Amino acid sequence: MSPAFSIRPWEQEDCGPLAAIDHFGPMPEPWQEDDFRATWRRVPVNGLIFDSALYGLAAYLLYEVCDEELTVIKFAVRADWQRQGLGERMFRALIEKARIQKKAIVATLPETFLGAQLFLNRLGFTARLLRGHYGNEDGLIFVYPAKEGQTDG
Ligand SMILES: CC(C)(COP(=O)(O)OP(=O)(O)OC[C@H]1O[C@@H](n2cnc3c(N)ncnc32)[C@H](O)[C@@H]1OP(=O)(O)O)[C@@H](O)C(=O)NCCC(=O)NCCS
Repeated sequence: MSPAFSIRPWEQEDCGPLAAIDHFGPMPEPWQEDDFRATWRRVPVNGLIFDSALYGLAAYLLYEVCDEELTVIKFAVRADWQRQGLGERMFRALIEKARIQKKAIVATLPETFLGAQLFLNRLGFTARLLRGHYGNEDGLIFVYPAKEGQTDG
């Protein structure tokens, strides 16, 4: 993990660089810049950005603040920075926000996003199957902290 990165809220100017992160994936469903712009205009969508003067923008996490939970919309780490702890650092920041606000964190993913599933499991999220959530494809809903009676997905 590089100490050169700091976490800051997202800004409208980030939409292009965020699309570049998706484009150079590997990202199962990359967004275009316009997708990020449309989400930017949606209030209240919050974003955490991993930025560095030396390396540029390396990771993002978009989420919505709801009554009882922080709902994760989308997250990714730039391909050349994956598996180096940035994703975990980013989610630890979100977990801290959820703890302070006394809210849960909820993330829903297609069942084919295996890397992200393993990543969330490792952070202590628990998963439940959502049959047909994405049309022909099942989804998994991940919750943190784990709810009683739920098992790992
Ligand atoms: C999932 C993702 C955010 C994880 O961020 P990261 O910075 O790479 O993860 P960290 O370095 O903090 O943690 C890595 C751990 O998570 C798990 N993990 C992450 N990606 C994995 C993969 N592709 N395959 C298997 N395990 C994976 C492993 O346990 C890994 O530990 P290891 O490297 O010691 O085996 C990142 O890999 C990514 O951007 N993936 C593509 C985008 C995506 O799927 N986004 C979610 C849907 S919106």
